[in-house]
Amino acid sequence: MSIKVNKDIIILAIESSCDDTSVAISKNKEILVNIVANQKVHKEYGGVVPELASREHQKNIVPTISLAIKMSKISKDQIDAIAFTRGPGLMGSLLVGASFAKSLSISLKKPLIEINHMEAHVLANCIDEDPVFPFICLTVSGGHTQIVRVENVNQIEVIGETIDDSAGETFDKCAKMLGLNYPGGPEIEKNSKHGNHLAFSFTHPKVDGLNFSFSGLKTNFMRLIQNKSINNPSFIQHRLSDLCASIQYTIIQILTNKLDLAIRKYNVKNIAISGGVAANQEFRKAIISLEKKYNTKALIPKKEYSTDNAAMIAISSYYKYRTSQFTKTSINVDPRYKLKQYDQ
Ligand code: KG4
Ligand code: ZN
Repeated sequence: MSIKVNKDIIILAIESSCDDTSVAISKNKEILVNIVANQKVHKEYGGVVPELASREHQKNIVPTISLAIKMSKISKDQIDAIAFTRGPGLMGSLLVGASFAKSLSISLKKPLIEINHMEAHVLANCIDEDPVFPFICLTVSGGHTQIVRVENVNQIEVIGETIDDSAGETFDKCAKMLGLNYPGGPEIEKNSKHGNHLAFSFTHPKVDGLNFSFSGLKTNFMRLIQNKSINNPSFIQHRLSDLCASIQYTIIQILTNKLDLAIRKYNVKNIAISGGVAANQEFRKAIISLEKKYNTKALIPKKEYSTDNAAMIAISSYYKYRTSQFTKTSINVDPRYKLKQYDQ
């Protein structure tokens, strides 16, 4: 395999870790196309059903790749490498993307690049931007809530994470309790618009340092709904917007307080957010307040690069390509693929 470094680097990237089949094609740091095929089948179940997710990926992967190639106007022989998400994620979903990437790598005789999904969420901040290093990034998705210290694109280390549920999952579960559709984050955001965020207060978890906990908040929310509904069966219906605004406000407060603590603890003022919850408008506003407080620069990816997407896999693999970090086709997916912990 020949690696050309003094020319444009064209990468075809596949992301299939959860319930979205996404394919992107990049030319150096520029994203030529980023297609996301959403799976609607999970809506009625209130969460992702792993078996259905992998079947949907199998249906979507070929048309999504064909469409990406067509839209990018890149011919297959121009592609320099194939990248895929190795983990973390759902085993069956990861396997579909990985198997397809391996087959493409073999048939096109192009190198293969494996990417950690959490690293990719962080590096989504490098699309259309040149971040100042080091920076601290808070990644908030459906499966994870994690704070990392980013020394450079090759050195991303965990400084805090959730000890139980993720913030995205809390949005999803609370939405389900309210009878709202999956994914719950956007539903709660939509229904919170005219609500009072101080209508209901919830206890904040007491977790030391930069770790998070959300399971207590979820129980707190459930108890409130159960207790109030005893005397008023229409409680949810009457107070929906206040409930949504209050739970959204509490989750965002917990997240931003920890990011604030991380800035002070590590004396690193450059900050970033990423992951599906970063699409939330109120969360974005809270980060902008933090930016003003510390007179610093906050990186916030565009919405299409916040939720799961293959553009973030493409940008991460661009950096790996430049340093020839290729992988063998014998590599296995890793549903629990972890990032390195920061060594103090
Ligand atoms: O990063 P992501 O697309 O997939 C995972 O890797 O998990 O994140 C999905 C999560 C879901 O929990 C979803 O409810 C949440 O992101 N989410 C939001 C919003 N959009 C997506 N949460 C709050 N507000 C939103 N606008
Ligand atoms: Zn994700």
